[in-house]
Amino acid sequence: MRISVFLLVLSLYIVGCNNTPKSVSPLKINAGNDPHSFSNFNDAIIKKLNLNLKVDFENKILTGFAEYDIENKTGGDKIIFDTQNLNIEAVYIDGNTKTDYVLGKSDSIIGTPLVVNIKPATTKVKIIYKTRPDAAAIQWLEPSQTHDKQFPFMFTQSEAILARTWIPIQDSPGIKFTYTATVTCPTNLMALMSAENDTVYHADGVYHFNMPQPVSSYLMALAIGHVQYHGYNAISGVYAEPGLLNACANELTDMPAMINAAGELYGPYAWGKYDLLVLPPSFPFGGMENPRLTFATPTIIAGDKSLVALVAHELAHSWSGNLVTNATWNDFWLNEGFTVYFENRIMEKIYGKPYADMLAYLGYKDLEETMTDLLEHNPDDTKLFLHLENRNPDDGMSDIAYEKGRLFLKNIEAIVGREKFDAFLKNYFEENKFKSMTTEMFLNHVRNELFDGDTAAYSKINARAWVYENGLPKNYNAPQSAILFKVQQDADAFTKSGNTAVIDTAGYSTHNWLQLIRTFDAKLGIEKLAALDKAFHFTQSQNSEIQCVWYILAIKNNYDAANAQIENFLCNVGRRKFVRPLFAALLETENGRAFAAKIYDKARPTYHAVTRETIDEMMANAK
Ligand code: BES
Ligand code: ZN
Repeated sequence: MRISVFLLVLSLYIVGCNNTPKSVSPLKINAGNDPHSFSNFNDAIIKKLNLNLKVDFENKILTGFAEYDIENKTGGDKIIFDTQNLNIEAVYIDGNTKTDYVLGKSDSIIGTPLVVNIKPATTKVKIIYKTRPDAAAIQWLEPSQTHDKQFPFMFTQSEAILARTWIPIQDSPGIKFTYTATVTCPTNLMALMSAENDTVYHADGVYHFNMPQPVSSYLMALAIGHVQYHGYNAISGVYAEPGLLNACANELTDMPAMINAAGELYGPYAWGKYDLLVLPPSFPFGGMENPRLTFATPTIIAGDKSLVALVAHELAHSWSGNLVTNATWNDFWLNEGFTVYFENRIMEKIYGKPYADMLAYLGYKDLEETMTDLLEHNPDDTKLFLHLENRNPDDGMSDIAYEKGRLFLKNIEAIVGREKFDAFLKNYFEENKFKSMTTEMFLNHVRNELFDGDTAAYSKINARAWVYENGLPKNYNAPQSAILFKVQQDADAFTKSGNTAVIDTAGYSTHNWLQLIRTFDAKLGIEKLAALDKAFHFTQSQNSEIQCVWYILAIKNNYDAANAQIENFLCNVGRRKFVRPLFAALLETENGRAFAAKIYDKARPTYHAVTRETIDEMMANAK
């Protein structure tokens, strides 16, 4: 028994080819400073990737190779890649020379190091591999999970550390490389990547890609489906399934204006084209800023352009994130806080200050809620600079990085004035483009460039408190919204009277409605919910944001009339931002728990791994 366990462990350890197995201590071999990568990028680093993949929909497998141009900086004898759940078949260096490699001990969060033997003069490493059907980045969809229900679909989601589940790679945001790729897929489908894309089908199913600007691994992306392209102009357009393309094209007509607005703010768009791919509804995020080709959820296609701020957000990442990148996931706020700030500036330029202020105020309200919750349960996660060592970087994806990050930048803006801050940011993007940034480097920039190195002046922005302390500093400017102040009054009047006529809905946009619904709580009661529903038809809404907040209110008030729609929504939409709070609300009560279990049984197989893992954990904790 002992021996067989020993053999099993040994065989797991040295799986793959290796003539000279060496022991590798996983958490020590990372010679860089990224706690979420095994790679020894200070010694040997990838410079260029040539990816070649064949797509097997039937078996849910990608087969092929990743061939790297590397720089062996220290002339050492190893280069280390990140992998997770990959089948490595062979490794070659400098052409056709087979080389030895070891798959080291696995870590449940960061995967398995692939240690490849190289020569001091090695410049090329080619890894032959296959993905597994349960690769966490990839979701393989049945035709029934798509809009048009005719063809299968697949897409990847690499951020934060899932690129390693479909490509053996040095998977740290601090490393940038250019890439080319060849993808072979069924001829009735189109392949798209975070690179230069074609807009037409290739009869042979073979697609070639080129990404001439250096990018980080979390921006590697591939999607394959039956999609078509609608171009707005030479540099921007939208891909979607044919049955949804018209609606998408109409919804997103402001994309070219957003690109102009962004460029006017912080300098020229650096990536050639900016297109957007509308994915099937199981996409676990609202949007993902894959360079040249944002991936987006179809739940932003509301019919009235009310949810397009998400496009401004993903577009803004073309500067904050894709050009100047968080060096590690501890610096995640540098990606997201900047982007939320920038997003709002784009929105202000196009839709005016009152509208942008309203959006900022709503974000601030989210922050207040998150802050209260985290200060109680996980106070250290309320710092901008995070400590995600030995944790999943997904844990850092909260309103803190996004909204506290934005608030910090808004406060710097208020102190130095917008004009000066804009000039600083423009220069910051220009100076640091195609580089990675740590929080400390950023603060140094602020001190040196915004305050000319004057430490006393710099101290006015209270950077230490914002970045390294819990909660919010004592004094700061909080967003205000004149528009939403009135909504609060309407809501209060209704709560008192139960009469929907007191709600003056003239001029209400989606966000007024959202604020109205969010103002109510579990004490509102079934009758008042029924009255609201009768007057405004929330249960039947086709606006995903309204559906989400209304269904949460319905669950909290045991308003069962919404149950069928709640089930339907959760079985169709896999966007974690909606799915998580809905299940959380259901899990609060005993009846709700049974209902949640029933729904999740059905919905789970349709969710991407990112959403599945979150809900699995919630369900397990609720037992
Ligand atoms: N880059 C993020 C998505 C992300 C973050 C994926 C961390 C994995 C790990 C993207 O830009 C984003 O922030 N999306 C938001 C939308 C935005 C409008 C706040 C989302 O998906 O909800
Ligand atoms: Zn973002």
